[in-house]
Amino acid sequence: MASIVLKRTGQKMPLIGFGLWKVTKSSCADTVYNALKAGYRLLDGAGDYGNEKEAGEGLRRAIADGVVKREEVFVTSKLWNTFHQYDHAKALAKKQLELWGIDYFDLFLVHFPIALQYVDPSHRYPPEWWGDDGKVHLQNTPMHETWRAMEELVDEGKAKNIGLSNSQGSLILDVLRYARIEPQVLQIELHPYLTQEPLLNLCKTLGIAVTGYSSLGPQSYVELGVDKGVPNLLNHDVVGTVAKNAGKSHAQVLLRWAVQQGVAVIPKSNNHDRLVQNLQVDSFELSEADMKALSSLNINLRLNDPADIDPRMGIFA
Ligand code: A2P
Repeated sequence: MASIVLKRTGQKMPLIGFGLWKVTKSSCADTVYNALKAGYRLLDGAGDYGNEKEAGEGLRRAIADGVVKREEVFVTSKLWNTFHQYDHAKALAKKQLELWGIDYFDLFLVHFPIALQYVDPSHRYPPEWWGDDGKVHLQNTPMHETWRAMEELVDEGKAKNIGLSNSQGSLILDVLRYARIEPQVLQIELHPYLTQEPLLNLCKTLGIAVTGYSSLGPQSYVELGVDKGVPNLLNHDVVGTVAKNAGKSHAQVLLRWAVQQGVAVIPKSNNHDRLVQNLQVDSFELSEADMKALSSLNINLRLNDPADIDPRMGIFA
């Protein structure tokens, strides 16, 4: 499978991975096992997704059955917002490794550049991003403190690479001012409604690999009841025309559009046929005109914007 070489370690990050956000907890171990059997070699998890123990069970079963070796699978996890304080970040990463039942993450990301009030180690969340008082419960940990913990995870062999997620260029440039170990990967929302060209260009210049999430656009949010009043990209006429030209499904051309720009994708599916279909975007090319047609759908629509998502809608519940 095609991959991106990470600058610092030379490690290869597969261009197509399996995302664990919203993968049903009760079937997660089987889904992960089957994803690995189908050929996925990157698992994208997070403390926030609440299924790391089950994902780890699936991974360990696949290793025990000889489907994969640990070193063949690129495992990503993320630090949740309530654990940004130095000692909390380090303790959480250790706990997350225990949940997965592995010794190291290939990549550990700061999930959001937002530090929220710590509750206790058993809580993934404060009661809400917003408290009953309607206020955001921010905590005053600066990013350089969190980043120092991230760097020490690398020193201790708990993370091979570290990076950022849901961050803009200004934060990346700020981290680079003090980073002893530079961010290797940026994970961001990316689809034809949000093409993020300036940020992609910056990352290219800085040698930071990019992973795009929500590649299928609004589809990820439909089941959460979020309606941004735009056509679902999976039914969009322009996407349909490109799909017809390529002889592929709507989902496949949306994934290919990102991959063809050198961006890794991490589609999730609870459905085995779709999971297999999503892996098959390595072996065809979109014409320049079709790439442009998809990019021209850009309306800078951010579906997962912490500045405007009310947690009471259930997205972060
Ligand atoms: P399902 O799990 O039922 O397949 P993302 O990973 O970008 O968040 O998107 C996942 C969403 O898209 C889920 O709602 C998932 O539902 C759906 N999905 C995943 N793959 C496909 C596909 N190939 N065709 C249509 N929908 C898909």
